[in-house]
Amino acid sequence: MIHAFRGEILTTPAPDLVQHYLDGLLVVEDGLVVALGAYADLAGRFGDVPVEPLSGLIVPGFIDTHIHYPQTGRIAAHGQQLLSWLEQHIFPAEKAFASRAHADHVAAFFLDELLRNGTTSALVFATVHEGSVDALFEAALSRNMRIISGKVLMDLGPEGLRDTPEAARGESEALIARWRGRGRLGYAVTPRFALTSSDAQLRVAGDLLAAHGDVMMHTHMAENRGECAAVEARFGAAHYIDAYDRFGLVGPRSLFAHCIHMNDAAMGRMGQAGSAIAFCPTSNLFLGSGLFDLTHADRFGVCVGLGSDVGAGTSFSMLATQGEAYKVCQMRGSVLDPFRALYLATAGGARALGLSDRVGGLQAGQEADFIVLDPGATPLLAMRTQGAGLAEKLFAMQVLGDDRCVARTYIAGILAHSR
Ligand code: GUN
Ligand code: ZN
Repeated sequence: MIHAFRGEILTTPAPDLVQHYLDGLLVVEDGLVVALGAYADLAGRFGDVPVEPLSGLIVPGFIDTHIHYPQTGRIAAHGQQLLSWLEQHIFPAEKAFASRAHADHVAAFFLDELLRNGTTSALVFATVHEGSVDALFEAALSRNMRIISGKVLMDLGPEGLRDTPEAARGESEALIARWRGRGRLGYAVTPRFALTSSDAQLRVAGDLLAAHGDVMMHTHMAENRGECAAVEARFGAAHYIDAYDRFGLVGPRSLFAHCIHMNDAAMGRMGQAGSAIAFCPTSNLFLGSGLFDLTHADRFGVCVGLGSDVGAGTSFSMLATQGEAYKVCQMRGSVLDPFRALYLATAGGARALGLSDRVGGLQAGQEADFIVLDPGATPLLAMRTQGAGLAEKLFAMQVLGDDRCVARTYIAGILAHSR
């Protein structure tokens, strides 16, 4: 089936590339973009194709490079920084995912919430339970969403939320075999963080990553100062990254959430390895973890995407996350351009997930995941964006907007959510 969408279209397919068509046309065939451009330029070539007019600003679907679906119900948990927040609020909630029925229920709610917020692809933490991954993948498959996830490896976790190196290997292998090549799903080997895995289990994670060229590695690094001190003490490491590096976990298919407390050697190693970072501003502020330094990552050529990191993150909205990223950059003495922020939330995220050829830029050949943003979603936004230019309008939505701005979400050219 071939069809087209006509309206104002904005995309940032590369770091310094902005494509904007005031009267644009997006042509989609069997879920893939066939052409993107000015209506006047494409109308002749696609004269027979049915066209749906869309009012608002069409942009690529957002890509959340780090989020925990089992923590959905624990968002906004008061009072602690990382390590005690995990003990007090998160581990008890994750134990409930031993129940497949509970996992199914939360997975459905979670994916619908992503769609309401215009997020069409995500790299997602599940729990230590194999069934938590099956639940998420089944729900994502039925929605045709591009979701990457994997069983959490944590043999040093608390009672009731602990596996073994052998179970980690066996269950991960089973999940990879069961889900490989299905729908738009991808697998990530997912050691929770260095403190919850034994050396033997980190070795298993490295083996899995080496054995399967089509899987990612997803973990946390250098988020909280207490965490960093504990890791460096346990591993006798000069920096946290050495603990992962020893087990072959720092490579081009690896994504590390946070990376706040980095030195030049650690950031340089990330750049050299081609590893990616998920910048999670709402989470880093909420847990008092610190201020990510985007210019430091830039200096070493490290690939960065944006992550909501719900439940430590305080919003599912990648618009709100862009607004908070702007504020964190201000605190670090740099100014985040609104088009770069959009890039981080779309094509930049795709690059961080190794999906540049598939999603993020609405380029010909890519999958047609896109959203329609409403710059007049609230009275204040309507007032602020009245007569505004493109950059001003985009920035206002990043600072003032959230799910209310997402009028429609399309997955592979098909309407999946309408406000
Ligand atoms: N480090 C280890 N586990 C977690 C988690 O669940 N959330 C965050 N933000 N950091 C972590
Ligand atoms: Zn996280």
